[in-house]
Amino acid sequence: MTDRKPVADLTDADAAEELAFLAAELARHDALYHGQDAPEISDADYDALKRRNQAIEARFPALRRPDSPEGHVGAAPSGLFAPVVHARPMLSLDNVFSDEDVQDFLASVYRFLGQIPDGSIAFTAEPKIDGLSMSLRYENRRLVTGATRGDGTTGENVTANIRTIAEIPETLPEDAPDVVEVRGEVYMARSDFFALNAQMEAEGRQTYVNPRNTAAGSLRQLDATVTATRKLRFFAYAWGEMSAMAAETQYEMVAALGRWGFPINPLMARLSTLEDLLGHYRAIGLARADLDYDIDGVVYKVDRLDLQARLGFRSRSPRWATAHKFPAEQAFTHLTAIDIQVGRTGALTPVARLTPVTVGGVVVTNATLHNEDYIKGIGNAGQPLREGRDIRIGDTVIVQRAGDVIPQIVDIVLEKRPEDAVPFAFPRVCPVCGSHAVREKNEKTGKLDSVTRCTGGFVCRAQAVEHLKHFVSRNAFDIEGLGARQIDFFFTAEDPALSIRTAPDIFTLERRQQASLTKLENIDGFGRVSVRKLFEAINGRRQVALHRFIYALGIRHVGETNAKLLARSYGDYDSFATAMIAATPGSEAWEDLNRIEGIGEVVARALVEFYREPRNLDVVGRLLQEVTPLAAEPVAAASSPVSGKTVVFTGKLEKMTRDEAKASAERLGAKVSGSISAKTDYLVAGADAGSKLDKARGLGVTVLTEDEWLAMTAG
Ligand code: IVH
Repeated sequence: MTDRKPVADLTDADAAEELAFLAAELARHDALYHGQDAPEISDADYDALKRRNQAIEARFPALRRPDSPEGHVGAAPSGLFAPVVHARPMLSLDNVFSDEDVQDFLASVYRFLGQIPDGSIAFTAEPKIDGLSMSLRYENRRLVTGATRGDGTTGENVTANIRTIAEIPETLPEDAPDVVEVRGEVYMARSDFFALNAQMEAEGRQTYVNPRNTAAGSLRQLDATVTATRKLRFFAYAWGEMSAMAAETQYEMVAALGRWGFPINPLMARLSTLEDLLGHYRAIGLARADLDYDIDGVVYKVDRLDLQARLGFRSRSPRWATAHKFPAEQAFTHLTAIDIQVGRTGALTPVARLTPVTVGGVVVTNATLHNEDYIKGIGNAGQPLREGRDIRIGDTVIVQRAGDVIPQIVDIVLEKRPEDAVPFAFPRVCPVCGSHAVREKNEKTGKLDSVTRCTGGFVCRAQAVEHLKHFVSRNAFDIEGLGARQIDFFFTAEDPALSIRTAPDIFTLERRQQASLTKLENIDGFGRVSVRKLFEAINGRRQVALHRFIYALGIRHVGETNAKLLARSYGDYDSFATAMIAATPGSEAWEDLNRIEGIGEVVARALVEFYREPRNLDVVGRLLQEVTPLAAEPVAAASSPVSGKTVVFTGKLEKMTRDEAKASAERLGAKVSGSISAKTDYLVAGADAGSKLDKARGLGVTVLTEDEWLAMTAG
């Protein structure tokens, strides 16, 4: 293997090529060894091939092949993709909302160019697609990298996933330049989104919220075979680095992208006057409901590229373009009732029941009322909302649906209030279990929390059911066939051979079924096949990634991100649980917990409280008899000069964001901490570093500049 490039020097293209070679080669040697008992190479040489494959996969996780010699077990290692520094930054757009704002935008363009606003400058106007921006790099007319926007400077390498999108060409025609970077939007068509959700529902799985999030989730799959099952699409509308330009205007450049095989949006027009631009905006607004993709506005861009170059950029957005957003959609209707929903953490959320009304093409029957104060007309900071108007049953209300968020009641029509409408009395007891419902006092501000919470905990049926739904949800145990409907059924089942009250019961169901005559398969809604599949799905989760396990516990404030941080910091479940039990405030375990970058005191307290509650320990104990949390995969590339080291970042970093710095350090096996201690190995100090720098010097910790750190971790 000595004649091969060091892994650190490989380009994406090299890596992809070599991974393909290694997959084929290792498969051949496997066959020779196992199948024909006639190995061609020594064990040591075989191991060397395998190690090289592992090393390349570790550095290019997104390029890992579906037929990887490492197999599929354990799927996502760390949830991280390799960073890609964009050859040209990926910018965002300024937003404007009114006709006057558009007029101001045009005026500013003319003013900047020193011209009178005579309508002589042409602009393009096209839909603003509500998807994810993507940069596609082609070298010698072959696709080499697909990268997300990230922070605009550095994105994530999602090439393997991009290759599964049929609308994105693998190769470009001969007349395309040597280096082409196409920018555009990856999205999921509404029809494909609805079909996917119908399928999820039929399988008893949780449905997705909206096409955009689904597209984002699909793209960020570490296993490209999963992305391949989702129909993603693409519109090209811009470019990054180009070794040669195909045209002198925006309009013709996009046309060239179309000729090279990229889908381009048919609603793009080239216009000059304010009236024409606004006219096109309205036309696109009217067409919106019939489009098979979500859009949230219209983008105007100066057409001539030489003028674009003169106009240049502000810090993050070009002066030559702006996005004219559509207003949130609103409608009038009647509020017929206010119901209270009780969530997993006991929060009582008031929900408005409405006379059905269409808001932007979608029938709305419910809207959130947030909390007690919102109904009263009081904002989170105590300020009046709706000029202090409260919301009463019987009111005529204005419902708003902005994008995909849950519809809201933004106001009421006071003149139409019926005489008998009385202010809503927010419940003081949980409507489900009857326990007291209280608003906790925020310790820091001394103010009442806006959320009213049921104090019933485990006795509250609503909390228990919601907890189970969370436990089986996609980012937790992800048990197919156990959706909301099924959980409701099992939770209410009286028969001991059918009932599921706590998470461990899920894993004992099959045994209880075998010992009983009440067979699930004879119950309406469960056939023989679906029961078999359900047990397969349950048994398939008896081993589960540690971060999923932690997330599934449903500890307050411990979402997916925190669960990952904890899994990565503690490595295995025993270390984690032992530390949580030991972590009383002031203890060393408490200090360690608080030192994990990203874990704040609120989260730390919630963890410690969870592990102090005997009932939780009982449930977790029973769960562990059925399920094994898999130790978090070591993130370290063993050879990295910083693996195993504890690093602290402070001050303003110039070349990377704090998050990036952290992610890359962790990828190299370092532990990133938020505070300096004697255990700290390196402090990376950016500009204006303060007390941490002093403390590090005091403790004799090695201090590095950002450049020194980059030099040390490069290659
Ligand atoms: S142009 C330099 N055109 O909107 C300008 N962006 O809010 C680069 N977007 O990050 C962007 N449709 O993801 C442009 N027709 C369109 C777009 C569009 C959607 C997204 C893009 C960008 C974001 C900015």
